[in-house]
Amino acid sequence: MSSQNASSLSLVEVMQTRYQESPYPLYHQLREHDPVYWDEAAHSWVLTRYKDVLSALRDPRFTAARFTFDTSGFPAEFQQAIEPPIRALTRQMLFLDPPDHTRLRGLVSKAFTPRVVEAIRPHIQQLVDQLLDTMQTEGQTDLIEHFTYPLPAIVIAELLGVPPEDRERFIIWSGDFGALLEATDISADDAIRGLYGVNEFIQYFRHLIAQRAQTPREDLLQALINAHEGQDKLSEDELLGNCVLLLAAGHGTTTHLIGNGFLALARHPEQFAWLKAHPEQAPLAIMELLRYDGPVQATSRVATADMQIGDKHITAGQNVIMCLGAASHDPEQFYDPDNLHLDRKENHHLAFGQGIHYCLGAPLARLEAEIAFASLARRLSQAKIADEQAVQWFSGIVFRGLGKLPIVLA
Ligand code: HEM
Repeated sequence: MSSQNASSLSLVEVMQTRYQESPYPLYHQLREHDPVYWDEAAHSWVLTRYKDVLSALRDPRFTAARFTFDTSGFPAEFQQAIEPPIRALTRQMLFLDPPDHTRLRGLVSKAFTPRVVEAIRPHIQQLVDQLLDTMQTEGQTDLIEHFTYPLPAIVIAELLGVPPEDRERFIIWSGDFGALLEATDISADDAIRGLYGVNEFIQYFRHLIAQRAQTPREDLLQALINAHEGQDKLSEDELLGNCVLLLAAGHGTTTHLIGNGFLALARHPEQFAWLKAHPEQAPLAIMELLRYDGPVQATSRVATADMQIGDKHITAGQNVIMCLGAASHDPEQFYDPDNLHLDRKENHHLAFGQGIHYCLGAPLARLEAEIAFASLARRLSQAKIADEQAVQWFSGIVFRGLGKLPIVLA
C-alpha cells in the first residue's frame, strides 16, 4: 500500500479553541476518517485506534530515544550552560531503550517501591485534609491553585526529601520541565527557560546529594543513591536525570487527574453522589476518570524498521504519535466511551501507557487520587462550578489539564 496519505484533518487542531473543552470529537473524526494517517503539521504518523496504539506501545521495533534538542545555532555560552541538563535528561529512562532502560528502571524501582508509596498514605491524607481545611474557610476558590497543583508537588518533594522552605522553587522547576515534555508545540523561549530551570534543579539536587553523603536520611533520594544491583549503581547524571523525571512526570499529571476528574464529577452530580455513597469504590472510579479525560493524551516513538500498520507503510526513522486519549475513547474497545461510568468494569484504558515504559509512578498517582477523591466526595460533593466561562483548559497534543477551576463551596 502507499505510504503518506495527506489528510486535511490534523491532530494539531487539538490546540484550537473549539477542541479545548473536548478533543474527543476530533479523535473520533480522525479514527473514522483515517485511523493510521500521516500528519503533515506534526510531521508524524498518528494512531487513534485502541488496537494500533496498544500494539505499537508493545512493539520493540520502536525506539523511545526521541529527546533531542539542537543547540548548534545558539551562542557558545548558552550551549555550555545547558550541557549538564541535556546530559542528565538523556539519561532519563523514559527516553531510553533496553538494555539501558531495563537497567535504569530496575535500579529506580528498587528505591521507589510499593512499600515506600504505601508508607506515605497517612501523610497524604493529612496534607489533603490541611489543604481542604484552608480552602473551606472561603466561599469561592480555585481548586487548581489551592488543591490540585500543590498536593502532588508537596508529596513528591517530601518523598525526595526536599525541605519545605524550598518547595516553591521546586514547583517552578517542575513547570519548566513540564513545558519541555510538551515538545510538539513548545516555543524556543519556553525550551530555553525549561532548560535553565532544569539546570537550576540539577545544581540544587547535586547539593542535596552531597549533603546526604555527610548525613544520610531515610527518604527516596537516599534510597536512589543507595540502590544497587551487584556492583552497579546509578551514576550522578542518571540519579539527577531520573529525579527530574520523578518530579516532572509526577506533578502536572497528577494535578490534571484530580482537576479533570473533579470537573467531570461536578458536571455529573449523580456520579459524584454515587462516589460519596461508595467511597470504597474510589480505586475503580479513578480508573474511569483516567479513561474519560486523562492527563496524558499522547506519547510518541520513532520507528527503527520499515513496518506496516493497518494499510499504511511506516518507514524507519519516521515519528509515530500514539494517541492514548483517542484509544481510551475507541468504541471498538469501550461501550459508551464518551460517557462517564464510574462503576465501569474491565477498564483497560491506556492513560498510564503500556509495555516497558508503563508509568512507574502509577501506584503513587492512584494513591494520591484515591485519597483526594474520597475526601472531595465526602467534603465537597455539593461544590459547584462558580463560572463555566472561567474554567480554563490548556490542552496540547501531549498534556491535557485545567489552568483554573473556580468553584463555589456550598
Ligand atoms: C495521573 C498521573 C500520571 C499519568 C496519567 C502518567 C502517565 C504516564 C505515561 C502515559 C507514561 C508512559 C509514557 C510513554 O510510554 O512514553 C508514564 C511514564 C512514567 N511515569 Fe507517569 N503518569 C502519572 C503519574 C506519575 C507519577 C506520580 C510518577 C512518579 C512520581 C510518574 C513517573 C513516571 C515515570 C518515571 C515514567 C517512565 C517509565 C519508563 O520509561 O519506564 N508518573 N507516565
